[in-house]
Amino acid sequence: MRILAINGSPRGRQGNTEVILQAFLEGARSAGAEAEVVYLKEKTIRHCTGCFTCWTKTPGVCIHQDDMPALLERVIEARILVFATPLYVFTVSGLMKDFMDRLIPLALPHIVRRGHHYIHPMRRPDVWPKKVVLISNCGFPEPHHFSGLEETFLRFADSPDLEWAGSVLCAGGELLRSPLRERMGWYLDAARQAGAEVVERGEILPETRAVLSRPLIADPAVYARMANAYWRSLGVEPPPSQATTRSDAPQARLLLPPRSLDTVRDAVAGMAVAFRPEEAGDLKAVIQFEVEGEEPGRYYLLIADGQCAAYEGEHPAPTLTIRTPAEVWLGIVRGEVNGAQAMMEGRYAVEGDLGLLMRFGRLFSGRHRNRIEVEE
Ligand SMILES: Cc1cc2nc3c(=O)[nH]c(=O)nc-3n(C[C@H](O)[C@H](O)[C@H](O)COP(=O)(O)O)c2cc1C
Repeated sequence: MRILAINGSPRGRQGNTEVILQAFLEGARSAGAEAEVVYLKEKTIRHCTGCFTCWTKTPGVCIHQDDMPALLERVIEARILVFATPLYVFTVSGLMKDFMDRLIPLALPHIVRRGHHYIHPMRRPDVWPKKVVLISNCGFPEPHHFSGLEETFLRFADSPDLEWAGSVLCAGGELLRSPLRERMGWYLDAARQAGAEVVERGEILPETRAVLSRPLIADPAVYARMANAYWRSLGVEPPPSQATTRSDAPQARLLLPPRSLDTVRDAVAGMAVAFRPEEAGDLKAVIQFEVEGEEPGRYYLLIADGQCAAYEGEHPAPTLTIRTPAEVWLGIVRGEVNGAQAMMEGRYAVEGDLGLLMRFGRLFSGRHRNRIEVEE
């Protein structure tokens, strides 16, 4: 079974759409499909001029001599069409829109009634129907941003010549290439599963759709803080009206996931990455670090709603406070110092919920280099 995937991201092979598309195609290939990807950014596709020459003077042939006629041949040969596009202003990218407009030579001008509405029949009825899959990702964290895009494709595929196989719509897709990408494996596994199902079963099954509709980060507010911290890290300051927020800890600054564990700041930020929501349940807690010594600082971890975020600053009401020399906590997070033993030797001090400290081994042992071993 031949799949033609169209990647409409201007970022092409470096984009977030590509990450999902490749997982989907991996699954499809494992189920026996042959798949090819066309990167629209590498093609020349002019805008449709609306002249209808392809319907009148030169039936099936466009006035433009660019890369599109060859792509139409590949569309004709495929059994499954995968439209992979970033969400741009609630719809497809401009590259994808030009591609879709230029599919019009494949259709005939007449309108005929089929089922519940009128359609343009296809010029080559022998090569249809084809399955249609939509893959997209967007910058905002909430899935409802895709509603217009999905509706466009549901209308597009509502024809006897096309069969809707389902969509993979990933909200907050910028995380797919972020330092947090390792934690998004579950989403890409579901995208792989979707690819296999479309080949084997003709559609994405409800259980897989349910997983794929889950946002990458459950709490949009956490995602927003991370996104805004990212822009700030590039030197883009928020507008003055939003510069001061966070009633609970006004001075706090979100820490981005670290690339390595060189400082105690990295060590605390790394704990948020190593956090395991399945161990936290409905835990709500604030773990404050008061770091002394060569690298003094104040950091805290905020745990709520199955999420953990790291901040620089002081929280007004911590559940647990850890007072530690920088090198001791860094050593614990790197796995070089035994946390329980260090506490008993008085190398760091704790105040507050000691039971929480005892859970560190399980709470912070996710897929990251660090393992926090404080448990006895
Ligand atoms: C011109 C433009 C318009 C965008 N419009 C939206 C939008 O309406 N909603 C949204 O959530 N993200 C929007 N985004 C963000 C992209 O969807 C997001 O960056 C996505 O991860 C890009 O995917 P890619 O890396 O495959 O290109 C827009 C980005 C650009 C550049």
